[in-house]
Amino acid sequence: MIKKLITCCLLALPVFGFCNVVSKNENPGIPVATPVDSSKGLKDYFAKYFTMGVAVSPRSLKTDEAGLVLKNFSSITPENAMKMGPIHPRENEYFWRDADSIVAFAKNNHLKIRGHNLCWHNQAPRWIFTNAAGDTVSKEVLLQRLKDHITTVVNRYKGSIYAWDVVNEAISDDPGEYLRNSTWLRICGEEYIAKAFAYAHEADPDALLFYNDYKEINPVKRDKIYQLVKSLKDAGVPIHGVGLQGHWSIYEPSETELTNTIKKFADLGLKIQITELDISAYKKEHGSRERRAEDNNTEFTPGKDAAQSEMYKRCFTVFEKYKKQITGITFWNISDRYSWLDNFPVRGRKDYPLLFDKNLQPKKAFWEVVKTVH
Ligand code: GLA
Repeated sequence: MIKKLITCCLLALPVFGFCNVVSKNENPGIPVATPVDSSKGLKDYFAKYFTMGVAVSPRSLKTDEAGLVLKNFSSITPENAMKMGPIHPRENEYFWRDADSIVAFAKNNHLKIRGHNLCWHNQAPRWIFTNAAGDTVSKEVLLQRLKDHITTVVNRYKGSIYAWDVVNEAISDDPGEYLRNSTWLRICGEEYIAKAFAYAHEADPDALLFYNDYKEINPVKRDKIYQLVKSLKDAGVPIHGVGLQGHWSIYEPSETELTNTIKKFADLGLKIQITELDISAYKKEHGSRERRAEDNNTEFTPGKDAAQSEMYKRCFTVFEKYKKQITGITFWNISDRYSWLDNFPVRGRKDYPLLFDKNLQPKKAFWEVVKTVH
């Protein structure tokens, strides 16, 4: 009778707003649960550690994903809407609608905003590098255009955006090369990086300015990112933090790789943010490629689910050790309903990299992450 009563109570818990997270079961047959208050979202569990953020599109904020965002996150980042190409498609034309709608959503709901990004080799509009005749512009012209762009965008959202990714991915993936051989570098030389920070700081002296890059767990690339950020800091460039993107997978990083990475950047005395976190269900690849036969196997198996929760748990356990240096964690996309990884590195290969499934329900990884909080 008593057994029956307890079982009934436990089964009824979800109705009263609690979820059952089975911790240990000393009495097989009766589920023993740690009641987890399901009215709490990620941001609440992590309130004493980090600002929890997520990358969004204007469209996602008009769907039921908006509710999930509000419950779990206190910061948002426009996934694409503030990149130079989308927001500044022609020299004398800005396209504000999408970015404005994200900023309005954040303001109405008292969310913080991380701006992303002001200078990148990808998604840059072609006009910025060329003149009316189609010839490459001079360094002076390009730096002036960069200044105009940064000043206009940063000014428009001054006071609303607390942090900007100023320069994105300027480091080369080629182990023998320091800076990426981008059009920015070819026309301006290394100077464009420091200039971008100076322009952003001039436009909004209160905004926190970040350098942001990926493959940071690779020791060769990590050292180059470190070298760049350190040289900017030493030269007095207004840089306040380094963004580690965190596009990882169920196979990486190892605990040592992650610890070494965060330790290294913590040394700089700048803020660290994990800016684009996702844990792919596939082996990590950083370049797009053709689909192969094995890519048709896209099932998110229980084995992958378990490996992903372990990896998320590992990452958050390390993040929490460095809670003084890490000030924010942003997930790259909201739920497994949509991820940029569905089309990268293989077009149309479904991925499952986030903490919420396609039905917006918390995955095993979500509960593992929550359990790391002490
Ligand atoms: C990089 C960029 C992001 C985004 C992702 C893929 O990490 O910084 O803006 O484009 O790639 O979505």
